[in-house]
Amino acid sequence: MAKRKVTVVGAGFVGATAAQRIVEKQLADVILIDIVEGMPQGKALDMMQSAATEGFDAQITGTNAYADTANSDVVVITAGIARKPGMSRDDLIATNAKIVGGVVEQIARYSPNAILIVVSNPLDAMTWLAYKKSGFPANRVFGMAGVLDSSRYARFIAEALNCSIKDVRAMVLGGHGDSMVPVPHYSTVNGIPIPQLLSAEKIEAINARTRTGGAEIVALLKTGSAYYAPSSSAVAMVEAILLDSNRVLPCCVYLKGEYGIQDLYCGVPVALGKNGAGKVLELELSDADLKALQKSAHDVQELIDQLSALVA
Ligand code: LAC
Repeated sequence: MAKRKVTVVGAGFVGATAAQRIVEKQLADVILIDIVEGMPQGKALDMMQSAATEGFDAQITGTNAYADTANSDVVVITAGIARKPGMSRDDLIATNAKIVGGVVEQIARYSPNAILIVVSNPLDAMTWLAYKKSGFPANRVFGMAGVLDSSRYARFIAEALNCSIKDVRAMVLGGHGDSMVPVPHYSTVNGIPIPQLLSAEKIEAINARTRTGGAEIVALLKTGSAYYAPSSSAVAMVEAILLDSNRVLPCCVYLKGEYGIQDLYCGVPVALGKNGAGKVLELELSDADLKALQKSAHDVQELIDQLSALVA
């Protein structure tokens, strides 16, 4: 099989860590691109010098030139500024719209057949922007966040039950914002829904911590936001695509009426394979969870309206 090519845009903490995970797993050769001169080159060189010890043959190249990203199979977009303490993801919208918009134009020009995974915040609005700017079909433009939010939820469930994380499956739907929707009935320990294992109060505390999982880390780091779990989540999506595994992962995808949500990007479970986002799985939700999902979608719509005015 011809070697696969993945471009990671943005060589900050999320991008560089994603690139590292991709080469260490030998999923593809990686192009790490950033506007800062020398930085992606330096990080790529450093990673290549770990290849002997880590034992990977995948190549990583750092660059400032989009021509080097040509014909990528998958592009992970992490470019943009991160939150500082006290900021919401939504506060980043104007700055990151300019950055992400410019990135997508270049990527679409050099890799017209690529699948785009957006990681920049505010996630759902930036994914919508990437869809509009690229002109790509919606199955090839989607965002990472449900995997991250569900991964945080899983960790908190495992911690509360003192059980192995390997047995936990957690589900978070909706936008990657304060109104995201952790769904206890679809979150299980080896198939057992957590409402059978934890009190309602405990579940509500875990849900609340999940919703503010990113902010908790921003408050601790003070100078930036999370990157180990975000990069790991993005790479899980890259892996599902490159291996054509049809894993069902919660992703920010374009909805055409599913869950009563029309023409909007929002987080729902979807099968990921070589063609990108496949079938959206429509879970049966309680009235309260469905209302919460629609409220979250409404919040995303407000952000997109704001963004449409900015980029008009
Ligand atoms: C987070 C940021 C990256 O949730 O959105 O940590």
